[in-house]
Amino acid sequence: MLSTNDIRAKFLNFFKSKNHSIVASDSLVPKDDPTVLFTTAGMQQFKPQFLGRDLTYTRASTCQKCLRTDDLDVVGKTDFHHTFFEMLGNFSFGDYFKKEAIAWAWEFLTGELKLPKDRLWVSVYKDDEEAYGIWLNDIKQPKERIVKLGDKSNFWPSNARLNGPNGPCGPCSEIFYDYGVNPNCPNGAQCDPDCSCGRFSEVWNLVFTQFNRKDGGVLEPLPAKNIDTGMGLERLVAVVQGKKSNYETDNFTAILSVIKETVKSNSGTMT
Ligand code: SER
Repeated sequence: MLSTNDIRAKFLNFFKSKNHSIVASDSLVPKDDPTVLFTTAGMQQFKPQFLGRDLTYTRASTCQKCLRTDDLDVVGKTDFHHTFFEMLGNFSFGDYFKKEAIAWAWEFLTGELKLPKDRLWVSVYKDDEEAYGIWLNDIKQPKERIVKLGDKSNFWPSNARLNGPNGPCGPCSEIFYDYGVNPNCPNGAQCDPDCSCGRFSEVWNLVFTQFNRKDGGVLEPLPAKNIDTGMGLERLVAVVQGKKSNYETDNFTAILSVIKETVKSNSGTMT
């Protein structure tokens, strides 16, 4: 069975083989970014590259330490959320765009990790015919497993067009793993990746970063088109290891068994 460490290494090696510079995770508290308290995504350390102000490299790949305050309320209530998590990502700064980003994501999941194609669903931004066409015609993803969603789900940051924050943003396409119909889902077999019943785990987000949002919701085209992808390592590991919950994977079972043993051995001394 592939371990969490194997999967992280496989991802970085895959993108190294596609000529990406492997860059270390940034700190969990970013130094020079007043827009966030914590690092919430792999793209944050690359804002100067997205804005065309740093030309050191045009392709990068990372495994970024992340904390999302928006997620904290659901930690412990879902199988997929954490206080702290690792995000795998590949980035293009004015280099490749949608075609390569989608093709390489598919190659990694179905070729390197051998995930069954019929378990993978995708979503695209409702007006993004280009991404829809690549999934349908190049990847041969059946129409039934491609859904079109709006600004909340398929624009990054979510709803940025309307609500901000300012900065690099764009439409996105997400890849989901289908764990099978949830008998308790009110939508039954009609459920799709927009449903939160737990049937679908959102594994990978491919963002086509092409705008710089400014005050008043103005979307100014960036000097070049970019790619920012983010895949939750813990979610991917659950899928690869055949577990429904992230907490049942090798990354957590060792910690949980020590907690259980500690609780057991201390239980006689509790008053
Ligand atoms: N920035 C996007 C996200 O965090 C993709 O990396 O989902």
